[in-house]
Amino acid sequence: MQKSFYESDKAVSEYLLFHYGSESELLFENMGPRDALDFARRCGMLHQNFSLKRKRALDLGCAVGAASQALSESFDAVVGIDFSHALIDAAKRISENREATIEIATEGELRRQVAVSLPVAAQPERIHFTQGDAMNLSPDLGTFDFILMANLIDRLPDPRRCLQNIHSFAADRGILAITSPYTWLEEYTPKSKWLGGFEKNGKPVRTADQLHEILAPQFEPLESQNMPFLIREHDRKNQYSIAHATLWRKC
Ligand SMILES: C[S@@+](CC[C@H](N)C(=O)[O-])C[C@H]1O[C@@H](n2cnc3c(N)ncnc32)[C@H](O)[C@@H]1O
Repeated sequence: MQKSFYESDKAVSEYLLFHYGSESELLFENMGPRDALDFARRCGMLHQNFSLKRKRALDLGCAVGAASQALSESFDAVVGIDFSHALIDAAKRISENREATIEIATEGELRRQVAVSLPVAAQPERIHFTQGDAMNLSPDLGTFDFILMANLIDRLPDPRRCLQNIHSFAADRGILAITSPYTWLEEYTPKSKWLGGFEKNGKPVRTADQLHEILAPQFEPLESQNMPFLIREHDRKNQYSIAHATLWRKC
């Protein structure tokens, strides 16, 4: 079977740079959209404008963990879960050492070494990173005051299943933050499980509307915002996307 992209060295290196890289490493010759930087950290700060207990936070689909690190500045305990063993190993490594040296692509086969590090305010000792499946979470995890699902739903084989169960992991009046560019691909999600991006009975089905339908019984909508992000591929190529962030309060 083909190895998942998220288990590859390319994914580990791109995500370590995406999550922890400095502006000067990410923007070639200082060019590019600055408001798209620090996406993972901005996700980990989405709880900031709301009143809530700040005891436990969950970062589902945490990749190499920069949103968990941001959450650790405010929450007593943070759990970061990702399906990829390689990304969780990298999250643990940088969390332990507070820094890492990575190889990033410059052009073709050429690479250069770059040092990345945790923000000074991060409290990595508060974080537990573990491999797991967002669609099959153990009830032993308990409940969380804040749950982040950053750019996860359009990478799941069955996003509805994950969303329908997430209320059981939210504490009373807890907040759920979902960000996604809604990039539905059959490579990750069979079309029958897409939440939007197709027509039904001649009408467009949009993911944001489906989120309301799926979450409505247990969550009330709080706000939404656009969150640009930039993933660097090599010196002269980046992916620029705009995630839609929706925040929900458990009722
Ligand atoms: C597009 S990346 C987003 C990573 C990170 N949250 C961010 O915003 O940078 C999607 C992540 O979801 C993870 N993932 C995919 N399927 C998963 C599943 N079933 N359970 C948990 N994580 C999963 C991938 O390994 C990957 O780290």
